[in-house]
Formats: sequence, structure tokens, C-alpha cells
Amino acid sequence: MPFTANKAFKARPRMLVGAKEMHYQSADGRQILDGTAGLWCVNAGHARAPIVEAIARQAAQLDFAPGFQMGHPGSFALAERLVRILPPGLTQVFFSNSGSEAVDTALKIALAYHQARGETQRTRFVGRLRGYHGVGFGGISVGGIAPNRTAFAAQLLPQVDHLPHTHDLARNAFSRGMPAQGAELADALEGIIATRGGETIAAVIVEPVAGSTGVLIPPVGYLERLRAICDQHGILLIFDEVITGFGRLGTLFAAQYFNVTPDLMAMAKGITNAAVPMGATAVRGAIHDTVVHATKSGVEFFHGYTYSGHPLAAAAGLATLQLYEDEALLTRVAALAPVWEEAVHTLRDAPHVIDVRNLGLVAGIELAPRPDAPGSRAYDVFVEAFFNQDLLVRSTMDILALSPPLIISPAQIEEVVSRLRRALERVA
Ligand SMILES: Cc1ncc(COP(=O)(O)O)c(C=O)c1O
Repeated sequence: MPFTANKAFKARPRMLVGAKEMHYQSADGRQILDGTAGLWCVNAGHARAPIVEAIARQAAQLDFAPGFQMGHPGSFALAERLVRILPPGLTQVFFSNSGSEAVDTALKIALAYHQARGETQRTRFVGRLRGYHGVGFGGISVGGIAPNRTAFAAQLLPQVDHLPHTHDLARNAFSRGMPAQGAELADALEGIIATRGGETIAAVIVEPVAGSTGVLIPPVGYLERLRAICDQHGILLIFDEVITGFGRLGTLFAAQYFNVTPDLMAMAKGITNAAVPMGATAVRGAIHDTVVHATKSGVEFFHGYTYSGHPLAAAAGLATLQLYEDEALLTRVAALAPVWEEAVHTLRDAPHVIDVRNLGLVAGIELAPRPDAPGSRAYDVFVEAFFNQDLLVRSTMDILALSPPLIISPAQIEEVVSRLRRALERVA
């Protein structure tokens, strides 16, 4: 099982057999309130009829079309529809099947772009500690999670540096929204540039809000600073918006929330409401044109997947974007975020809580680790929440991450928080 304590799971399985809107159904018949939108991905809620029907129609009409040297209208229609909601300038889209693939695609496009421009020395990448960019060799190389790298360390991409992460409880604990302190952490990029030479760096990749390592929200001014330094040195900026895209912060993408536009953007998850796997990498038009025009004839970019732009994923994506628009879901969180913020910060006095942080419809509740068993406290809360409080939360190290579907009601927000409080108290 992926990223699972297999022995513990098999000793006491946590099986889901159904889902509708805000709830999962467990194998023993309980309705589990979904505090995590699956894995940060079911933004419109589960099993929504327009998406289900679009997938069924598409499966009957055109189940598969090869993407190599062939096309089908769905993937072009979805790309065009995405471009309408992407930040201005990101005009081209390359489809894949997951966030990991979207990231690896972005890294490859960055290299291909510099090569096409004759800047063949720009081969280095800069990632960030505690960054998560999926599990491809590219993603774990630029990512900054030690356990994801340790077993594979001998074969990671060789030319990668990491910025420091921005998590700073000493200065920013219990921040509401963006933490005030830490913009200067972006200046570490200047240090890497001084050591390596700015002209050797192809791209910097960050999550605007780091999710998987426990909801790390960028300090005020930090992302603007990264953008400015990249611009000064001709370095591409890649945003990994796999979890922040599609309304999670109350804007279409985090780029619009922070008013910082990257050169490339990786997406997945909410792109199809997770009903069919899909990833996508958006790029500035000039990057696309440079790569495509560098080759006179034949294949311009030697990369792609059998299932790039798969008809079912494209159909699910089009239906999802329509549903988001019909229900104004991508901006719904702007109004809901203050209610969410108030609710999650009431957990401040729950047992062992050492930080509560929030942005948009995301929250991180950090617990004091048990001295002898780091990570076990939050894991126990996750297990207690699932079995005894009918609530799905996600634990990562000693942090509980919350990211419910964007359709959640204020009453359900209260419910998420009160069930989590009970779980925290029971585990304590
Ligand atoms: C920021 C980010 N990038 C990439 C990924 C990898 O996506 P996938 O699991 O679809 O490969 C994730 C998954 O959680 C993610 O949060």
C-alpha cells in the first residue's frame, strides 16, 4: 500500500466502500465526515452527478485515443478551458496522470527550454526543504522530505540545492493566515546563486503552500521575493499547485491569491475532482514556442505518457470545471475562510496542541511529539478520529492536516472541529 504502515493497516483495516458529497461510507456502514477532501483532491465533494455522467458518456463514446501523433477534441477543449482560469501568460498545457508526473514534466520542460535557447549550462534545480513534489526521481530530488529520499539517495538528480523551509514556530505560532515573519528566508536563493552561479540554475520549484509536510504557509512577502530573485537571474519559477489549485485558497489558484505568477505550474487532484487520475503542467506561451520552434520538423519534445489527456480524464476535467463554475466553488472559500479560521483556532487549548495555522480552507494542527515516538501522537488521533469519531483527517509527522471539500457548510465545519477535539482528548 502506498505511504502506509502496512502491518498496522492489515491488523485493523480502514476500508472505504462508498462516498457522497461530504461523506465517505466505511465498510462497517458508518458515515465518515471527510475532513481532507480525500487527499486534498475531491474539491466539489464526492460522486457528483455531472462528473459521473460525463465519465460514463465518454467511456461509451471514445474510451481511449492514442496521444502520440494523434489527438481527440476533449484534451484540447480542457486545455483551452484551463487557460481561461490560469493566471495570464500561462497559455499552454501538457497533460499527464498525476501530480508526480506533472512535476517531472515541468522540470523537463524547464531544461528543454533553456537548451532550446542555447543556455545549455542552465541545468541545476532549486527545491526547498519540506517540499513535496511527488515520488518520481525528479520530484524526490527537488523535494525535501528525508524519508522519501533516504533509500534512493544514491540515484537522485545530481544538481539540486534546497532552500530552507519557512516553518518557524518560535516566531509564528498560532498565526492566522500568512505568518508575519520570514520573508527574508527567500534570500537564501541569493546564497545558492552566489555559490553555483545564477546562470547555471534552470528553475526553482516550490509549493505556494506546502501541504504534505504539514501545512506550511508562506510568510508575507516571501513568494514575491522568490519571484524577483528568479527574474533578476533568468531563472524559471515553477509553482507546484497540486493541492493549492482549484479553489483551495478561495481563488482559482494560489498564484492569484498571492498575486505571484510562475513561469510553469504543476496541477493534478482537483483538476478532475479526483474522479479520474490526471495531472497537467501549464507553461508560459513563450516557453512553449521556444521549445516547439527549436525543432524544424518531427517531434519537438521527447516526453509523454500513454494516458496523457486520456478521454475519460478530459471528460471528467471538463465536467469538473463546469461544476466549479456553476456552483462558484473556486471562489466560495473566500467567504468561508473567516468561519474556518475561527473554528480551527478554537483547538488552541486542546491537549498537546502547540500550533494552529490556517489559510483558505486548509489548516494544520501541530502537536507536541511524544519524546520516545515522534509522529505517533498525530497518527493515533487520525486512527481515533476514523474509528470512533467518524471523521477523516490526515496526519503527517505530528501535524494533523485538514482540507475538506469546498462544499462544506459552516455547520459541518463546526462538526469537523468538535470531532477532532474529541479525538485529541481521547488520545491524550
Ligand atoms: C504539492 C504536491 N505535488 C505533487 C504531489 C504528487 O501528486 P501524485 O500523488 O498525484 O503523484 C502531491 C501529492 O500530494 C502534492 O501535494
